[in-house]
Amino acid sequence: MRRCERIVVLTGAGVSAESGLGTFRDEGGLWAQHRIEDVATPEAFARDPALVHRFYTARRIQAAQAQPNAAHRALARLQADWEGDVLLVTQNVDGLHQKAGASAIHMHGELSRALCAACAHRWDAPLEMSAGDTCPACHAPSARPDIVWFGEMPYHMERILDAIQTCDLFAAIGTSGQVYPAAGFVEEARLAGAATVELNLRDSDMSHAFEHHILGPASRTVPVWVDQILTGK
Ligand code: APR
Repeated sequence: MRRCERIVVLTGAGVSAESGLGTFRDEGGLWAQHRIEDVATPEAFARDPALVHRFYTARRIQAAQAQPNAAHRALARLQADWEGDVLLVTQNVDGLHQKAGASAIHMHGELSRALCAACAHRWDAPLEMSAGDTCPACHAPSARPDIVWFGEMPYHMERILDAIQTCDLFAAIGTSGQVYPAAGFVEEARLAGAATVELNLRDSDMSHAFEHHILGPASRTVPVWVDQILTGK
């Protein structure tokens, strides 16, 4: 791998799988247990806010008890020790990159944050949220998880695309490449002339677009990959 100044890393649920948090589309994953249209769309929240809050409260409690694994820690080390820029963009909402000491852009929001559907105020979410919870700013009964649902615009897209269009290396870790806009980032990176590498347990829907592939569990492959980057090997 040629030495790269600016690195963009995209992570998905696979990076947290070995921390005990389920992925979405693997065998028995979250979308095998719940229908997206029942728990992860604005229409679902309007129709049955109690069900949506129960779904996210269960995930918030599970994420609060989860610990970062060697992959999260290795990415924090990369950010700390790499002399160039490292932008870590995550689709995950579990907070494990921060727990590992990394700073990440949460393009799909965060379980630890709440959002007011009426005034757009954001605050730290309590562990348990329920229908009718009020906003601390406008006091409307319109508190919702600060999660980007299907049909909503992911956060920080301008900053993410600016970074991808000027990066030297783009890495995707533990993502199935099935959900846009994140699935399209690798093509943007290639157009920008960046080297591209995919780290995954198996091939993803976007594997064809990556130059390099490192197969295996993230807790094993990511620390080795980070060492290669930092030592220039
Ligand atoms: N190590 C590395 N990769 C893994 C591991 C592991 N231990 N376990 C699973 N994977 C890989 C799977 O092979 C798969 O490619 O992680 C990926 C998980 O894919 P998804 O479950 O689709 O999760 P993700 O790609 O993050 O989903 C993207 O979809 O539902 C929305 O908003 C949700 O952010 C999510 C988005």
